[in-house]
Amino acid sequence: MRYKKVPKTDMEVSAVSLGTWAIGGRDWGKADDKESISTIQAAADFGINFIDTAPIYGRGHSEEIIGKAIKGIRSKFYIATKCGIQPEGKGFTFNLKPEAIAKELEDSLKRLGIETIDIYQCHYPDPHTPIEDTLGQLLKFKKQGKVRYIGVSNFDLSLLEKASSITAITTLQVQYSLLDRSIEKGVLSFCSENDIGVIAYGPLGGGILTGKYINPPRFPKGDARSFFYPYYKEPYWSKIQVLIGEIKNIARKRNKNPAEVALNWVNQQEGIAVTIAGCRNYEQLSANASAGSWELSLDELERLRKISDGLELER
Ligand SMILES: NC(=O)c1ccc[n+]([C@@H]2O[C@H](COP(=O)([O-])OP(=O)(O)OC[C@H]3O[C@@H](n4cnc5c(N)ncnc54)[C@H](OP(=O)(O)O)[C@@H]3O)[C@@H](O)[C@H]2O)c1
Repeated sequence: MRYKKVPKTDMEVSAVSLGTWAIGGRDWGKADDKESISTIQAAADFGINFIDTAPIYGRGHSEEIIGKAIKGIRSKFYIATKCGIQPEGKGFTFNLKPEAIAKELEDSLKRLGIETIDIYQCHYPDPHTPIEDTLGQLLKFKKQGKVRYIGVSNFDLSLLEKASSITAITTLQVQYSLLDRSIEKGVLSFCSENDIGVIAYGPLGGGILTGKYINPPRFPKGDARSFFYPYYKEPYWSKIQVLIGEIKNIARKRNKNPAEVALNWVNQQEGIAVTIAGCRNYEQLSANASAGSWELSLDELERLRKISDGLELER
């Protein structure tokens, strides 16, 4: 497994890390808890040392499952979780008020069964709470030893600039893949210049870049691949087939699986510190972890970039 250093930290993170939205069991169809636990435990054997979660994933269930899985092996993983999305009825609201995140932190620590979170991230911006207030509270958590590093997620460039003028922001978690490269318009370079490690989510576009779908799949309304990742519907589906074709082509020539190609393209980009791939079972885990043992050539990286450029997928 290759490892990358998160700037200005003591963390060397595996090239493939573990995302746990799907194992929450709400937004990606049902999850098999026993299988989720054994998958997380097996991740350590592959050299995967970073797990990302959030209280909203399964409304606490993802964190609970991680807590069960890492009991006795906590030191093998860096744990990143988030705050600021609160369930409300069938939906949710963004809330980064100090008192709200103080409660969220305690609940997360309890569910995870740990005393310190390695990276605590604001999940989404909250337009109703001054960022100074939120960061002030996060700094208190740091002083109390409950949080090691502060991260933010889904912040645009101006909010990120503001946040990092107030205190050290260790990481920015954002969507980044061959299907969504919007951070290349300023965010990625700002992060590189300011030693902020980018944590890339959705590197497989929610699964489509594994090349496993021959025909466009249909997902229920409440599934992340209906409301969050648009690639399964037209006009995206037809446009991206040429990219999936080239990913498969490279995979075939290298005797790898297509998921590895998509993951390595993300992880080999400058400024990307962590690449989190959702894995629901051992099969997906072992396929994705294999990406950590090889790299794409410069020519392959560039060929994929050019095809991605031509897709014009701006959202
Ligand atoms: N900060 C944020 O706002 C935010 C937003 C989204 C995600 N995230 C984080 O980023 C993580 C990764 O993103 P993601 O899970 O949304 O998307 P992703 O990593 O692009 O896709 C993950 C999904 O693809 C399928 N898959 C994975 N590996 C596979 C393989 N080798 N072969 C076939 N199918 C495979 C699985 O779904 P199926 O088995 O159902 O096909 C899996 O759940 C999340 O788990 C979460 O921790 C954060």
